[in-house]
Order: sequence, then structure tokens, then C-alpha cells
Amino acid sequence: MSRVGTSMIDLARQIVRPARRRIFPGSAAYWERRYRRGGTSGPGSAGTHREFKARFLNDFVDRHGVESVVELGCGDGSQLELGRYPHYVGYDVSETAVDACSARFASDPTKEFRTYDPAEFPAGPFAELSLSLDVILHLIEDDVFDVHLDHLFGASQRFVIIYGADVDMDPKKTAAHCRFRRFTPVIESRYPAWHLDGVTEGLAPATREGPRTDFFVYRLG
Ligand SMILES: C[S@@+](CC[C@H](N)C(=O)[O-])C[C@H]1O[C@@H](n2cnc3c(N)ncnc32)[C@H](O)[C@@H]1O
Repeated sequence: MSRVGTSMIDLARQIVRPARRRIFPGSAAYWERRYRRGGTSGPGSAGTHREFKARFLNDFVDRHGVESVVELGCGDGSQLELGRYPHYVGYDVSETAVDACSARFASDPTKEFRTYDPAEFPAGPFAELSLSLDVILHLIEDDVFDVHLDHLFGASQRFVIIYGADVDMDPKKTAAHCRFRRFTPVIESRYPAWHLDGVTEGLAPATREGPRTDFFVYRLG
């Protein structure tokens, strides 16, 4: 696209975004509405991105003999379709997404799905590996971000894997349903029993607005 075309798009964004932020219904309502209208989990859950994620995760599960996986924010199941896990429970804040996944994987006895209600989330740990893949950038509200991390680290007995961008970004420069913030310092101070075991560089951003997303592997002890 020409430079003129690009700057016109940037200008339009500068006008539209503040208005969108003012009417943003909150992260949970946003996702439920998006799926109810036939929307998907987005570009990070499709094409080369979903293949990259699945390759990393399947290899990790094989190498470490992980028997049970819980995912917070399973989405529409597009990425999960490539997942090979002995036993998997997917939670999502959107009931529509959970219903769609239940139907999509109805013949797969290794996978089950539940609507995520933070007040009803079971006390852990109850799985060997917990996952948060392309979810943290969508946790707009501070309290939702805090509880997500508590549940993610509380659910697991051995490993936590986050696929996310560990950067702070001015929310004015992103879409209303995105908020990039650093999570590694929060995890380090809040969950001292967990250690960052490795970071694996991800692919280029799924959209031109976002920073690169990487895999962060945490290990207990
Ligand atoms: C971009 S999609 C990623 C889906 C999937 N993890 C993947 O990698 O393909 C983000 C998902 O997080 C879900 N979500 C948003 N806030 C959540 C929360 N607080 N707890 C659980 N899921 C949440 C959304 O409904 C959406 O399905």
C-alpha cells in the first residue's frame, strides 16, 4: 500500500479508536458478542500461527510426558484442532465458544469444555500444564488480568505456558479489545515458587498493530 494510503488508514484509526474505546462493553461481553455474531478467535488462531503454536505445544507435551492440560481461553477450537494432549479441559469466558467447541470435539473423549466463571473456577492444582494462548492481550480490566494469572498458576502442578507479548504499549495505539502489558514482572513477584524456564520466539505479529508474541514456559520449583 502507498504511504498516502497507509497514513489515511492511521488517521481513520486515530478518529475511530477513541469512540470504540468509549463504547467497549468489557472483555467478556466483547468476546461473547463476537462469537455470537459468527466471529472467530482471530488471525493468531489460524494459518501458520496455529500451526506454529501446535508444533511447539505438542512437542512440549511429548517431551515432558504431560498427561493433563487445562487452557484458559480455548477460543473457537481452531488452534486446538491440531493439539495432541492425553487429556484436555478448555475454559472460555464465552458460552457460545464453549458450546461450539463441545460440538466440534463431540467425538473426541480426550477433550472437554467449560464456561469460565471466575467465581466458580475450581481450586487447583488439577492439571500438569496450564495454558494461556493469546489471551492476556485481551484482558483489558486490571482485576480480570489479576484473576486470570491466579487461576492459571493455581491450576497447574508442573508447567504454565503463556503465548503472549511481554511489552507495555500505550492503549491508545491499539484496538479497544487489546491491551498489551508486561506480565513477567508480575508473575515473578506474585508466584515466587514458579520460575521462567525459557522463552521461545514466536512468529511475526498476526496483525500489523501488535508486537511479536512469544512462548513463555514456567516451571514449578
Ligand atoms: C484470541 S482468542 C485465543 C483462543 C485460543 N487460545 C487460541 O490460541 O487460538 C482469546 C480467547 O480468550 C477468551 N477470553 C477472554 N477473556 C477471558 C478470560 N478472562 N478468561 C478466559 N477466557 C477469556 C476469549 O473469549 C477468546 O476466546
